[in-house]
Amino acid sequence: MNRNNQPTTNFYITTPIYYVNDLPHIGHSYCTIAADCLARYYRLCGHQVLFATGTDEHGQKIMRSATQRGKAPQEFVDEMVQAWKQMWERLHIKYDRFIRTTEPEHISAVQDIFQRLVDGGDIYPGEYQGWYCVPCETYLPEADLQDGRCPQCGRPVEPMSEPAYFFRTSKYADRLLHYIEEHPQFIMPATRRNEVLAFIEGGMHDVCVSRQRTEWDIPVPTDNAQSIYVWLDALVNYLTVAGYGDKQQHQAFAQWWPPHVQLIGKDILTRFHATLWPAVLMALELPLPRTIFAHGWWVTNEGDKISKSKGNVLDPYQIVRGLVDLSDATTTVAVDSLRYFLLREVPFGLDGSFSWNALLSRFNADLANDLGNLLNRSLPLIERYLGSQIPQPGPGAGELADQIDQTRSAVEQALTDIDFRQALTAIWQLVAAANKFLDEREPWNLYNQSKTVELEAVLYDVADCLRVIAIMITPFMPAIAEEIWEQLGLGAAGATPTWAACRAQQLPPGIYIQRGEPIFPRVDIKRALSRLEGRAASEAEKETKAPPSTTITIQQFSKLELKVGVIVEAHRVPGTDKLLRLLVDIGEDQPRQVVAGLAEQFNPRELLDQQVVVVANLEPATIQGVESQGMILAVGDKEPIALITTDRQCPPGSIVR
Ligand code: MSP
Repeated sequence: MNRNNQPTTNFYITTPIYYVNDLPHIGHSYCTIAADCLARYYRLCGHQVLFATGTDEHGQKIMRSATQRGKAPQEFVDEMVQAWKQMWERLHIKYDRFIRTTEPEHISAVQDIFQRLVDGGDIYPGEYQGWYCVPCETYLPEADLQDGRCPQCGRPVEPMSEPAYFFRTSKYADRLLHYIEEHPQFIMPATRRNEVLAFIEGGMHDVCVSRQRTEWDIPVPTDNAQSIYVWLDALVNYLTVAGYGDKQQHQAFAQWWPPHVQLIGKDILTRFHATLWPAVLMALELPLPRTIFAHGWWVTNEGDKISKSKGNVLDPYQIVRGLVDLSDATTTVAVDSLRYFLLREVPFGLDGSFSWNALLSRFNADLANDLGNLLNRSLPLIERYLGSQIPQPGPGAGELADQIDQTRSAVEQALTDIDFRQALTAIWQLVAAANKFLDEREPWNLYNQSKTVELEAVLYDVADCLRVIAIMITPFMPAIAEEIWEQLGLGAAGATPTWAACRAQQLPPGIYIQRGEPIFPRVDIKRALSRLEGRAASEAEKETKAPPSTTITIQQFSKLELKVGVIVEAHRVPGTDKLLRLLVDIGEDQPRQVVAGLAEQFNPRELLDQQVVVVANLEPATIQGVESQGMILAVGDKEPIALITTDRQCPPGSIVR
């Protein structure tokens, strides 16, 4: 039994293992912070947690980076790993296992699995003919290339024709399709599940799982001329961590397998985690992970993916330093504020773009104003009126109990759904309720009127609510939660937070609060932005100035009728490569028919149920013989690269302004 008096269960959570040739940027940090948040939550609930992250260290890409720096690959990866570990420490990441694919234990698990798959007839020798993208370490058939380049990263690919081993992914296609359909929680979010289903239905080919031997790979056990494909090597890390293949760890493996949650970015879902990975597990007759959740990307304001090769990397620690500089917050507080921002600002499955304005606004509004104010108003009152001592709850106390219970359930549900934003929204509703309670009860008046019983009840409730809030924010902002815990005097009293204690009236009376400095100093956003702009301007001096854009009046803009729509049907327009015929529900009696040039970028199936923004008063036009009664907004100058959607569900027909 755990501290919450519930049976202890194991919770195994993973992040992808990161290519070690790169330095950690905001995208990698996003996934690892999210995993850390869930791991901390389940620990708080009293579960035994195995939270694993690590580094992907083999392959041509790493080898090339090492050579470019004049280093032996092992020396290179050993150095780079330090940067990853340091970043995780700085970002308050508390992992249980850091796996490196160069560990002997992992290498032997990979070879063992390869051999098992050969023995079971799932891996067979053949001849690979096609293309290879080294940066993505991906085999690509001719048909998948886009303008002769990698469809994923747009970079040039290399021709390949050599003997190789293949894994029979095709054999598992039907089983996988049914599994995904029958287990809606397996691939999340739902939009990604549809993409995966479309991919499998499009025909799943056997995957090449070896290459001609190079110096920096794991050799195929019985064929020294071949190396095991780095993606197979990488995916096996999840098994190694759980203790696969190690006889001594047999029990451990049974205890941890399968993972509860595997967090990954959307780019490595379809080809790898949602197809190759489960097919390998099926071949090994192992249960599949409960949930694979593919989160969105952090992109630049121009919609570009943040990546080293594009030179637009955002270093999370530079952001932290910037925040310290602009706000006078401590580094610890700045780190937690960034964690808060990343998990609150954008729904986990969608893309988000980083901006200082958004970060500073969240910092001021949610942290300094809402949470900071609650703390900075309540503790001085307890100090002044009650000599810093937490009173007995008394008969009138417990007024925030219902709100606390509702918040606890809402957060539990949101975290089960891996919806960080929803969880934080619920917690901030409780913060708002506590602030409102203080405003309405006016403890200063109760004091002036010598209404001691009422005064004590109000201040007890507020301090008790702060205690609950401190527990609830622990997974998201562990250091700030601890600071609040200390200021409430709970640390000194020897109390430790548990999720079960997120209930009213569990604050021990008689303890003394230990008021500290305000945690969140407010930022003057205008000044901060102009300081940042000043810096950016001096850096961009050499850049040519963009011509002034032509403006339109608000009246001109208001002529546009923009509405939220939901795609209810999507079909290719026969005889065309680019066009889709979409039926979009915009809240009218009949769905609108819209012809859109999206066919090259989007599979019709993945568009189903997608929320979009429609120009509803565009003059109808006939395109390739099909009438189009509107236009769907998308990002992209010449070709659409992303659809404009809403950040939460809105009824079809809602006006967009
Ligand atoms: N090594 C493979 C994963 C093997 S897992 C068995 C790999 N590594 S990676 O370093 O390139 O990417 C790791 C993860 O970082 C991916 O999930 C990817 O989605 C994520 N991100 C990389 N850039 C990102 C953003 N800009 N935004 C959000 N996450 C992105 O792929």
